[in-house]
Amino acid sequence: MMNNTTILAIESSCDETAAAVVKNNNGIISIESNVIASQADIHAQYGGVIPEIAARNHSTNIIPVIKQALTEANVSHENINTLAVTQGPGLMAALHVGVETAKALAYAWEKPIIPINHMEGHIYSSLANEKEIAFPILALLVSGGHTQLVLMRKHGEYDIIGETMDDAVGEAFDKVAKMLDLPYPGGPSIENTAQSGNAEAIDFPRPMLDSADFNFSFSGLKTAVLYYIKDNPSFDKSDIAASFQTAAIDVLIKKTEKAIKKYSPHIVIIGGGVAANSLLRKKLQSLAKDKKRELRVPREKTSADNAAMIGIAAMFKKPTSKNIVASPNLSLK
Ligand code: KG4
Ligand code: ZN
Repeated sequence: MMNNTTILAIESSCDETAAAVVKNNNGIISIESNVIASQADIHAQYGGVIPEIAARNHSTNIIPVIKQALTEANVSHENINTLAVTQGPGLMAALHVGVETAKALAYAWEKPIIPINHMEGHIYSSLANEKEIAFPILALLVSGGHTQLVLMRKHGEYDIIGETMDDAVGEAFDKVAKMLDLPYPGGPSIENTAQSGNAEAIDFPRPMLDSADFNFSFSGLKTAVLYYIKDNPSFDKSDIAASFQTAAIDVLIKKTEKAIKKYSPHIVIIGGGVAANSLLRKKLQSLAKDKKRELRVPREKTSADNAAMIGIAAMFKKPTSKNIVASPNLSLK
């Protein structure tokens, strides 16, 4: 790990423009600031993220957000040792704004730059304040674009042991919310609506629950909800939300349990936007307790997209002199 370093990190892969200052004093990583300008309200009008609008808003917000991150951390650019930026995966036009801004600042300030994979950021978001990181780590990454089980045997080395064959779990939450006329982003809407529903009201399928691998599939579950709505015109929104949520989470938990059995990780991590879901957290907590594993969940502010997680991940990497470019399909390897 880099020691006594101050990093300015930038994240713009989707609809949050984010900048953070992360420090490392003798191995203790601290988040000095973590500024997020969310465009969720703008995209909510369209029921989803419109890439061109996201990019335009990133361009407007990025410099004010960076300035605020420096101010809140009480540092100037002279105190910054290195920049870090999300290189991918994400929306091309959105990523581009963050990457090009980071490159321009690195050039003007004569600082190095560290490109970070967004999913790697979600893993590391739970690893600040960790005295000694014990491997192997098993990470369940659940976001709007990804559903993966990743095994890490050391820093920077990722083995994707399972992933979704079709929709990401966050995407399924978003699509089911749309079917129920609930506002974007769908995850929190479904979670709220589910609170007053009966999770056992409808027996939705749990695709690939018993498959021998660690892969997932959510499109069949999504379609089952669609048919249920068509066949039951007087449906109860809360019961659908609760039953869908439980079905989706059952699969995540069962596959994570299988992976724990096979790989005996020291630490289990959840990361990505869906990690904010309290039913998922609760079930993972009891699974980890049952299997006597350490569980790390991101704090509220670092579970959705943010730049602090990018800065934390960067602490474990070396700067590059390569000319980096935004890579929408960057994979974890
Ligand atoms: O990681 P993230 O902020 O952006 C991506 O990298 O995709 O994840 C966003 C996803 C969205 O699909 C959103 O609906 C979902 O995370 N999400 C949730 C919750 N909060 C956000 N899903 C379920 N329950 C939640 N409470
Ligand atoms: Zn994300």
